[in-house]
Amino acid sequence: MSFVLCINRADIKADTRVFVRCDLDVPLHEGRIGETFRLNACLKTLSYISNRGAIPVIAGHIGRPHGRFVATLSTKYLQVYFTSHLRGRFEVLENLRFDIREEIGDPSYAEELARNIQLYVNESFATCHRNSASITGLPRLLPAFAGFQLTKEVEMLNKVLYDPPRPLTVIVGGAKVESKAPLIAKFADVADCVLVGGKVALELKPSNNKVRLPVDYVDTMDIGSRTLEAWRNILLGSKTIVWAGPMGMFEDERYQTGTKSIAEIVAQAVSAGSFGVVGGGDTITALTKFGLTDKFSFISTGGSAMLEYLVAGNLPGIQVLH
Ligand code: 3PG
Repeated sequence: MSFVLCINRADIKADTRVFVRCDLDVPLHEGRIGETFRLNACLKTLSYISNRGAIPVIAGHIGRPHGRFVATLSTKYLQVYFTSHLRGRFEVLENLRFDIREEIGDPSYAEELARNIQLYVNESFATCHRNSASITGLPRLLPAFAGFQLTKEVEMLNKVLYDPPRPLTVIVGGAKVESKAPLIAKFADVADCVLVGGKVALELKPSNNKVRLPVDYVDTMDIGSRTLEAWRNILLGSKTIVWAGPMGMFEDERYQTGTKSIAEIVAQAVSAGSFGVVGGGDTITALTKFGLTDKFSFISTGGSAMLEYLVAGNLPGIQVLH
């Protein structure tokens, strides 16, 4: 079973500079933060460090700039959030992905980031499936720990990984087709049913009869009502449900019904005693929009990372934290 060394086991001395690899990938609209769930999830760890007189050096990525400077993806827009939520000293580094060496896991970047840092903490579960310099390189150079949220993610997802109550249904949606498509086939081996919506469904050729695609759509931008009826029965009969990725373009009111209905059905199953885990940036944004974030057994900050952890039982970023 995977486990991580939690930050509460670290000896954090005053004035120590602690690199905290946070989950900063939140929606930004003209410099305004659209939704703060992932940032809120880092606060306990950041406060724990600053309460000890140490200095959290907050670092992470926003979006996929692939080594270019993209002004709209700057972490400078997050400064105001951390100023209003943290007491004590802290620093926020610029978007790590403005340097291509982050994405390709270049050891020279990890060495640069490690300068003047005494301790490393990973609080970015959503990026633990990436071999990025700040995820797998840096913890090899410094004493490394998991933040409170990352520790909780592993603990909660282990409940699904090891002997989950059955039937187990996995719902996959969203737009990151290249990350999710390979995982669907693997889930077909471990789950009782895999429901696929979102953009992923439009591009998938299922090879297993446990994988169900929508039977109808609304303008190909959302799943249709006949699909929802069929999936409702499957979900209400499931004892464990894992969901990552919206069912359609929920940002547009005309195409939000699929995602909202799935959220309500999973919430209903949870209130009837099923274990329901939901994850991923876009799914969290949708649940926040619908006011449903408190209706599930657990909300994971990671979408693809959560799915990958559940099929592989480990992730590169977690493996280095033992
Ligand atoms: C996410 O949003 O799932 C994480 O920030 C990882 O993003 P990525 O798929 O661009 O690596």
